[in-house]
Amino acid sequence: EPAMEPTGARIASPALEPSGRVALRRHYLMCRPDHFAVTYAINPWMDPAAGADAALAVRQWESLRSAYLALGHRVSLIDPVEGLPDMVFAANGALVVGGRVYGARFAHPERAAEGPAYADWLRRNGFPDVLEAAHTNEGEGDFLALDHVILAGTGFRTDLAAHQEAQEFLGRPVVTLRLVDPRFYHLDTALFPLGGDNVAYYPGAFSSGSRAVLERLFPDAVIASAGDAAVLGLNAVCDGRNVVVNAEAAGLIETLRRHGYHPVPVDLSELRKAGGGPKCCTLELREAPALA
Ligand code: ARG
Repeated sequence: EPAMEPTGARIASPALEPSGRVALRRHYLMCRPDHFAVTYAINPWMDPAAGADAALAVRQWESLRSAYLALGHRVSLIDPVEGLPDMVFAANGALVVGGRVYGARFAHPERAAEGPAYADWLRRNGFPDVLEAAHTNEGEGDFLALDHVILAGTGFRTDLAAHQEAQEFLGRPVVTLRLVDPRFYHLDTALFPLGGDNVAYYPGAFSSGSRAVLERLFPDAVIASAGDAAVLGLNAVCDGRNVVVNAEAAGLIETLRRHGYHPVPVDLSELRKAGGGPKCCTLELREAPALA
C-alpha cells in the first residue's frame, strides 16, 4: 500500500465546498466474492433456485473497491474461504471501535465459521484485543458507530443481550433499535451514519418506539422512501462527505445531494441477490486513538 495520510485525517477535497461536509480517511476491510453463491436462504432477498453469477459479483465488487481507493481510503483484504458464500459481507465479521474488536457470533449455522475467520485476521493485522462474544451478533450489520453513540439493531439477527455486552466491552453507549420488516433484517439495510452525528434511514423498517427514538436523537436526519429502501439504498457508506450508494436509489441520491453530500453511485445488483449492498461488503477498522 502506498504511504498516505493516516486514517482519520481530513481528505483534501478537489472542489470548493459550500456545504462544509468533510471527508475523513477510512480504513476498510473487504473480502473478494470468489466463492459467492446463493445456495441457502436466510433472508427474503435470497432465492437458491435463481442462483447468482460469482464472476459478475466479483466485477461489481471490484468497482466498489476502486471507488473507495479513488476517494482516498485504505482498503485491506481478507482471503475468501471456500464454502462460505456470504463471506463477501465483511460488515458482519466484527465491530471494531477504538481499536477493540467485538467479535461476531452468527445467528445461522451456514455463516458461523465466518466469525473466527474475521477474528483471526484482525488479531494478526494489528487488532489483538478481540472479545469472543457470548451473545449472537452480526457485527456492523447490526451495530453502527457514530461519534458519541453506537446504534444497534435487534429483531432478526442480533440478540438484545449483545447490545449490553458490546456497550460494556467498548465503553460506548449503545442505543437499541427494533427492526420489524424481514426485508430489512440488519440495521445496516435500513439506516446509515452520515458522518459522526447524523443518519439517513427508512422509518418503515423500525418499530414505532424506535422511530420515536430516532426522531429524538436525529431531528435533522435524511429520511429515505420505501422505494429507496427496496433497492437497499440505505446500505450505504459515508466518509463525512462522499456517500457510496446503490445507483438504483435515485430519490435518495438526489436528497443526499440537496443536503450537501457527494453521492458515489455503484452497481452491486448481483450481490443484492444475497441481500447485500455496499455497506455489507465493508467493515470499518477504527484504530485506537494515538498516544499523545
Ligand atoms: N446473505 C447474507 C445474510 O443474510 C447477507 C448479509 C448482508 N450483510 C449486511 N451487513 N446486511 O446474512
